[in-house]
Amino acid sequence: MDTLTIVDNRTGKKYEVPVQDGTIRAMDLRQIKAEPGDFGLMTYDPAFMNTANCRSAITYIDGDKGILQYRGYPIEQLAEDSDFLETAYLILFGELPTGAQQHAWTQQITRHTMLHENIKKFMEGFQYDAHPMGIFLSTVGAMSTIYPDAKQIFDKESRMRQTHRLIAKVPSIAAYAYRHSIGRPYIYPDNDLSFSGNFLNMLFKMTELKYQPNPVLVRALDVLFILHADHEQNCSTTAMRGIGSSQVDPYSALAGAAAALYGPLHGGANEAVLRMLNEIGSVARVPEFIKKVKAGGDGSTRLMGFGHRVYKSYDPRAKVIKKIADLVFAVTGKNPLLEIALELERIALQDDYFVSRKLYPNVDFYSGLIYQAMGFPMAMFPVLFAIPRTAGWIAQWEEMLLDPEQKIARPRQIYVGAQTRDYVRREKRA
Ligand code: SDX
Repeated sequence: MDTLTIVDNRTGKKYEVPVQDGTIRAMDLRQIKAEPGDFGLMTYDPAFMNTANCRSAITYIDGDKGILQYRGYPIEQLAEDSDFLETAYLILFGELPTGAQQHAWTQQITRHTMLHENIKKFMEGFQYDAHPMGIFLSTVGAMSTIYPDAKQIFDKESRMRQTHRLIAKVPSIAAYAYRHSIGRPYIYPDNDLSFSGNFLNMLFKMTELKYQPNPVLVRALDVLFILHADHEQNCSTTAMRGIGSSQVDPYSALAGAAAALYGPLHGGANEAVLRMLNEIGSVARVPEFIKKVKAGGDGSTRLMGFGHRVYKSYDPRAKVIKKIADLVFAVTGKNPLLEIALELERIALQDDYFVSRKLYPNVDFYSGLIYQAMGFPMAMFPVLFAIPRTAGWIAQWEEMLLDPEQKIARPRQIYVGAQTRDYVRREKRA
């Protein structure tokens, strides 16, 4: 067993702590005390920059090499040869499904796409211009009241039922939220269509008897869903695990994960990228914008869609998305903002400010351009991220729940507040 020898220079004492999987256990530091009555050493790691909070077998990322794998399968191969439902199965159950398993899985999901009619009434409560992500996370949370059996989180059958319901219903919720925001009637699922085909049906069907989704757009959306399905311990997955560790039902935990994803630094980034590209307005104004970003300082402008906590090289998903963009634009016509994005990337990849900080395009830099070209309003972009990430959130939640090492998440702190002081009655206060 590898070990670390620690000498506490406050006492001269030496400690041996085991090194396992490139980590030491934080609890092994508690034995290190300056005085016998001390609490013992803790680690201080704001935003968990260097803290592993779990052992996981779901997704592997190598940030320096730009590697992303789900259950050992490279993302590039899954994007090429798999489809979203098969990838969701892989992420959730650990293996690629056999033909029979894929058929049964697809049947289960197809049969759960309907929403409880009460959800329509619930949605009517939102203003017409309510942000779809606000509607999405509220509705997912509300589903915990429709399926109280979800509280049986240690019952495998119950977890499977909620998994089918969540994977199948999040696109329906997203579609209802979109239709509500444009004042159009809700569309019921069409079980003849694929997962992504039916999603387009529920979003865009008008008066035709049967919606015919464009196969190129169906495949593009399905691949985008594959690319967004999981990403190890990102902010929203950390929220899912943290909330789930209190043993609440998965709908309530997932509402919290969706809330984390809503932020502009996370899943809200692709919406922020489009707003940034619109603000720049033309290729000619790119250098001026880059200068603003490099000026930094308070209220600094970020190059949205660039940079990543883990990837210190090109996000492998962004490479695949760039290829999808060409396929989609061949059908929808090129997004005029693409030129600005390509010029931003060209300049940033050779500018030392970005290179020195290892800032490369991430998954969000190009995805918004495709969604916009497909007819989605910007406000729908984080919802399009939440749909596939539901598979990852559930898989990570279940892995946490079944991990014997895990318990309720409750970090410590460094207290920097006022020392003990006595209460002063109001009339005596200065
Ligand atoms: C996702 O975690 C995941 O896996 C997330 C995700 C997933 O699949 O779940 O991959 C999805 O959220 C992708 C990221 C989408 N967000 C954005 O595109 C927003 C813009 N990017 C950043 O805000 C930033 O890069 C983060 C939030 C993604 C990462 O931030 P970190 O790791 O906390 O890095 P940092 O803020 O400490 O930045 C390090 C340096 C700083 O410069 P200095 O203060 O040291 O001089 O890089 C600078 C930052 O100012 N910097 C940027 C920048 N990102 C970081 N400068 C300009 N533009 C940027 N985009």
